[in-house]
Amino acid sequence: MSQAESPPPTPPESWTVRRVLEWTTGHLKKHGSDTARLDAEILLAHARGCQRIQLYTAYDEPLADSVRATMRDLVQRRAQAEPVAYLVGHREFFSLNFRVTRDVLIPRPDTETLVIEIIEGVKTLVAARTSSGQAAGTVRILDLCTGSGCVAIAVAKNCQMTKLNVNVIATDISPVALSIARENAAANKIDDRIEFFEGDLFAPLASAAKFDIIAGNPPYISSAEIDTLDAEVAKHEPRLALDGGPTGLSVFERLIAAAPQHAAPGALFLMEMSPEQAEPLQQMLTAHGGYSDVTVRKDLAGRPRIIKARITG
Ligand SMILES: C[S@@+](CC[C@H](N)C(=O)[O-])C[C@H]1O[C@@H](n2cnc3c(N)ncnc32)[C@H](O)[C@@H]1O
Repeated sequence: MSQAESPPPTPPESWTVRRVLEWTTGHLKKHGSDTARLDAEILLAHARGCQRIQLYTAYDEPLADSVRATMRDLVQRRAQAEPVAYLVGHREFFSLNFRVTRDVLIPRPDTETLVIEIIEGVKTLVAARTSSGQAAGTVRILDLCTGSGCVAIAVAKNCQMTKLNVNVIATDISPVALSIARENAAANKIDDRIEFFEGDLFAPLASAAKFDIIAGNPPYISSAEIDTLDAEVAKHEPRLALDGGPTGLSVFERLIAAAPQHAAPGALFLMEMSPEQAEPLQQMLTAHGGYSDVTVRKDLAGRPRIIKARITG
């Protein structure tokens, strides 16, 4: 490159990608982030409108003033424990992209276990139907407390890819959460397989609606415990998505009582829970009398995470 074509020299004090990443990582660490470098990269990629991987080949590029201003705002908010997913407006779950706002819970890796269990339930039911000479038909799935729609959408999308025929109904009491769930279903091109209804648990469903799988990730934190959680959760995520009443089990109690009215014969009941709820939930399901084969499934970290039962009555 001739002298005339050389780019203007970068002033030594300029804020390059490298320098911003280093400074931000240190700053966020000081403010308590356990994932400071990752946060810095995600926020900077968002501010620059590029992929994270593209930062690595742009280390020595200075930031435009507008990008610096955006980054300054994002870093300030992150330092006050605002979750990265809300700052950038999306989160990956089950290899799909979901838009998230402060109106919906941020999808968690723990919840991927619920998706896996539902898909396993679909496969088992289809295999049982075909081995007894019936048509595979459509498996009817209910996702209660759908929030961003992550469970319903991940299940429907994966079943579509593996040619399992499912019909998914998803409900939530929050109209704003539902509008985000609908948007996510459309963005993931699966809105033709899912219907969304607004209301309290089973209330928005027709009384005759029956399902082969009744699943969900209901609010299950006890009201008193919420304020003791990390600020990221306690201060920023919707209380409606977390609060399971005085013992954390209030929504489960109502779900367990009402699910049999909407269960097809031999339907599966699959709910996410917190690990310490495994025992009380097993007792509640057994005491009810309308459930059998009560088991607990562990999440990818080996903690009890899903309560599973067959609905018999
Ligand atoms: C723990 S979040 C789960 C969201 C999403 N399924 C997930 O796994 O990320 C619980 C959801 O339940 C909804 N919810 C709370 N109480 C409800 C009720 N009584 N009936 C229906 N939905 C409810 C909240 O609005 C929230 O979206």
